Amino acid sequence: MSLPAPSLELTPAAAPGPAPVAASAAMREVMEAARDVAATPTTVLLLGESGTGKELVARFLHDASGRPGPYVAVNCAALPGELLESELFGHERGAFTGAAERRAGRFEQAHRGTLLLDEVSELPPALQAKLLRVLQEREVDRVGGERPVPVDVRVVATSNRDLGEMVRRGEFRADLFYRLNVFPIALPPLRERSEDLPPLAAELLEELAAALGRPAPALDATALAALAAHPFPGNVRELRNALERALVRCRGAVLTAGGLGLGLGANATATATATSTSTSTSTVNTISAATANALASGQLPVDLAELEKLAIAEALRRVGGNRTHAARLLGIGLRTLRNKLRLYRQAGVEVEPAGPAGGQLRPSARAAGLEPERDGALTRWQARPSQEERS
Ligand SMILES: Nc1ncnc2c1ncn2[C@@H]1O[C@H](COP(=O)(O)OP(=O)(O)OP(=O)(O)O)[C@@H](O)[C@H]1O
Ligand SMILES: [Mg+2]
Repeated sequence: MSLPAPSLELTPAAAPGPAPVAASAAMREVMEAARDVAATPTTVLLLGESGTGKELVARFLHDASGRPGPYVAVNCAALPGELLESELFGHERGAFTGAAERRAGRFEQAHRGTLLLDEVSELPPALQAKLLRVLQEREVDRVGGERPVPVDVRVVATSNRDLGEMVRRGEFRADLFYRLNVFPIALPPLRERSEDLPPLAAELLEELAAALGRPAPALDATALAALAAHPFPGNVRELRNALERALVRCRGAVLTAGGLGLGLGANATATATATSTSTSTSTVNTISAATANALASGQLPVDLAELEKLAIAEALRRVGGNRTHAARLLGIGLRTLRNKLRLYRQAGVEVEPAGPAGGQLRPSARAAGLEPERDGALTRWQARPSQEERS
């Protein structure tokens, strides 16, 4: 075995990380839990899809902890088992070929500080057992060492996989899971916290523009609506990348939906004015491309509640009215979808498709039973009068 290269992330404690944006109730709850637990030595398990901000919150936990030692981050997926063992726990001189000097592991480096075990689900079984021992005994065994070394480390672990399910499948040690799962914090996906989108986008644009030495452009209403209509499977990281792309191309002081081009892949040519009788379950990205185009050309409302209605109607149309499938497509829970449909019904707006989709101009609006009404530059969508009302 050769000496591990210093390839893992190591963030010095000196500069605190940026404060996470938390405008939505869900993110405010996350930050409240983080603030409560920050100053305690309690182990924290950060769960959530890729790109939801787990590392950012881990850094916040350290900054708010008041712990005098450094913040040290290790990505458990970055190195094979043998190298990771020495990286985490250190080694004595001569412990293996190439170990010319004694080396402190990340646990020792994080003494009196915070150790982030990023992607802890990827830890190989032998190291899961070793980690369990460190968490129980608060001392590490260096590779080739004879005496354990005491450490005072606050452990924060992250996972974007369901550790409970991995335990059930025998892929993750149950005892380690219980040791890590002392104070779990689940980061909600971005699609479930649309209130965070405008302040997040503004903050990320400021940061990205500053790096390019430019003033940040403002997002106009069409851009904000396009963001709200996009599902963001890659969460905040995807948003950041989209804004970076848009910024590179942006020449003016305002960024529009067209400039954002969300979901516009090489093959996406859909526009809202295209005639479509398709019942295919094409990706949500394609709807977003169409939505972005439609927004840019003023054919869709920029009212969020109205857009939500259209998205729900479109999802239901695409899956032939199956609510379970529609909820999955929309990235929301079935109960949330049912509640929304009930509210629409109470308001006299029928969103569920009554029969085969008409699918001419703006099929989603047709399926939603909505009729356009021009109000200045804005198209509003009204509940279509029923047969009785019309006659
Ligand atoms: N609430 C937030 N406020 C500001 N920036 C955020 C927020 N959440 C995430 N980000 C930014 O989004 C990007 C992704 O966040 P981060 O790396 O923390 O995600 P992650 O959950 O660790 O993802 P992965 O599981 O893929 O490693 C980073 O650039 C981060 O700064
Ligand atoms: Mg991460």
